[in-house]
Amino acid sequence: MSAERARLEELALAAIAAARETAELARVEREFLGKEGAVGKLLASIRDVPPDERKAFGHGANELKRAIETALAARRAMLERERLAAERSAEDFDPSLPARALAHGSLHPLTHVVRRLEEIFSSMGYAILDGPEVELDYYNFEALNIPKDHPAREMHDTFWCDREQKLLLRTHTSPVQLRALERMRPPFRAIVPGRCFRNETTDASHEHTFHQMEGLVVGEDITVGHLIGTMKTFLREVFRRELEVRLRPGYFPFVEPGFELDVRCPFCERGCSVCKRSTWIELCPCGMVHPKVLRYGGVDPERYTGFAFGLGLSRLVMLRYGIDDIRLLMGADVRFLEQF
Ligand code: PHE
Repeated sequence: MSAERARLEELALAAIAAARETAELARVEREFLGKEGAVGKLLASIRDVPPDERKAFGHGANELKRAIETALAARRAMLERERLAAERSAEDFDPSLPARALAHGSLHPLTHVVRRLEEIFSSMGYAILDGPEVELDYYNFEALNIPKDHPAREMHDTFWCDREQKLLLRTHTSPVQLRALERMRPPFRAIVPGRCFRNETTDASHEHTFHQMEGLVVGEDITVGHLIGTMKTFLREVFRRELEVRLRPGYFPFVEPGFELDVRCPFCERGCSVCKRSTWIELCPCGMVHPKVLRYGGVDPERYTGFAFGLGLSRLVMLRYGIDDIRLLMGADVRFLEQF
């Protein structure tokens, strides 16, 4: 045995020392240590060894295997060092070349805008709330003063999860108004950025998944004046200057009175494509929280009043970055996302 072992070791070490390339080393490795390799065959021949010599035989074969592995690793490292050295001394090697840049991701434009808005509103004392995207009919409609058969339901093309259980994908962030009223004691202020869903045919300005940011302020003597002041302050923070706003009447069952709030176009003076030549941009629906909604939320409307607004985040992002197709926002196209 020891003669055969010595012979194999000598052969292997010679082949390894002679190898000039890693591919050649791989071949030597297969030849000796592979499944059908010489060392394997040696080990298999243990059957023909008398029982009292088998232990020593196995031990020797394993030693042989380890010796070959060690030589292979050493030779491999050496070849690699040689290769690097050759590369460095080659004439076209330029150590001053900048490294290849690492590819890294970027924040979604929506994330940028939401973070900025959260910053602004928390500096005004607002809490940032969250609510479920799979919502109960009760919160999405019923307690927002939109009972069954109310025509306002038709404007919310709803994805139903389960009609029996009255589960749906929330069609707006307003259900969190009620969840906030139930949980927080007035006075309080809160914003709720989040995803909403509507079963709509998609086009450049409609998407089945979009983003809103609800605002809710409840306290004693909260008035429309506070609503206007809040929106002006927020716009001043975003656009870094004073912008005129105006209210038009708007109808939403959960606010009374309800408004559409417009802002003077920040991009032009005499009309442009963004404001469709009108110099006004529709910013958000809003209004004074309906007494019924307060009552549903367990808050006494005789004592407290409040205002609410529903900023269309998707629209705001599009305005901010000049994006003309809402489908890009949820489209997950890296070529689009890389730009932010
Ligand atoms: N939730 C309403 C919608 O999506 C918008 C809204 C919010 C209106 C808050 C008034 C107050 O249609």
